[in-house]
Amino acid sequence: DQATLNPEGTKPAKLAVIGHPVAHSQSPQLHQPALDALDIDARYIRLDLEPGELPAAFAKMKELGFVGTNVTVPHKFEALSACTDLDPAAEALGAVNTVLFGDGEDLLGFNTDGPGFVRAIREEFSVDVRDLRIMIVGAGGGAGQALATQCAREGCEQLVLVNRSLEKLETLATRLEPYFESEKLNGPGERLEIYALDSPHLPEIAGHCDLLVQTTSLGLKATDPAPIPSSCLQPHHLVYDTIYQPARTKFLRNAEANGARIANGLSLLLHQGALSFEYWFPGTSPLDAMRKGRS
Ligand code: ATR
Repeated sequence: DQATLNPEGTKPAKLAVIGHPVAHSQSPQLHQPALDALDIDARYIRLDLEPGELPAAFAKMKELGFVGTNVTVPHKFEALSACTDLDPAAEALGAVNTVLFGDGEDLLGFNTDGPGFVRAIREEFSVDVRDLRIMIVGAGGGAGQALATQCAREGCEQLVLVNRSLEKLETLATRLEPYFESEKLNGPGERLEIYALDSPHLPEIAGHCDLLVQTTSLGLKATDPAPIPSSCLQPHHLVYDTIYQPARTKFLRNAEANGARIANGLSLLLHQGALSFEYWFPGTSPLDAMRKGRS
């Protein structure tokens, strides 16, 4: 209720990240500096909710004057069902990470992970996703599916999906096939391909790609191995790891040692956050404040 949410002497809670668990979420450290820098009288809080609690929580937050909320694991699908309107990115992926509490019953759902990735790649490497042949390692996971879906929506030249287990990849590839119906590439392979992580052909397949993106959870621990062999990483590659803590995973260190251009997932964190903020507060530019808040 109001009293617990807004203890005396604090700014009113008007934004949140909902997850389960949610204690580890970096979102408050991203959004609060932006709210403060833009002189918006609002606090961004964490809410740990059980599955099934979202619709009631959204209604209550609306009543309490919240502007909107971020939604993270495991609620991104449930959030989508609770929304009355969806942006194309959320609709294509089937998951919502940003909600804007609109007028009346309106709950507007967005997904900023994919669009944030496009901005991050442009910032890091000065290229557009649509011009690239892209390999996504870990494409069966939540993050991988978001980025793969966006690359497909952008009409990228080629999309190579790689995952340890193939079941989720097959489902994803079936969903993405309609984006790749046009002519075969002017080069080897189909426009949409899937491979197992341990395929012996991976170095050769990777060699035909421009951008390699690491989206598995491997690398979060210092002892984690890289998900694909170092021989996949070549000097002509742009190599992006969605992990940003640590700043250099084994995968990125291998890529750097092999002469590739590398970047970590901090830019994705910043851009997906900035896009959420821009949905809540149209016309603002929170990115610089978010970046400063992180450094
Ligand atoms: P989600 O993102 O959906 O919550 P996750 O369990 O965190 O899922 O896994 C994210 C990605 O990391 C998946 O692609 C997963 O591969 P599987 O789909 O085969 O499970 C990948 N992943 C996690 N641990 C891995 C490991 N030890 N080796 C290879 N891939 C791994």
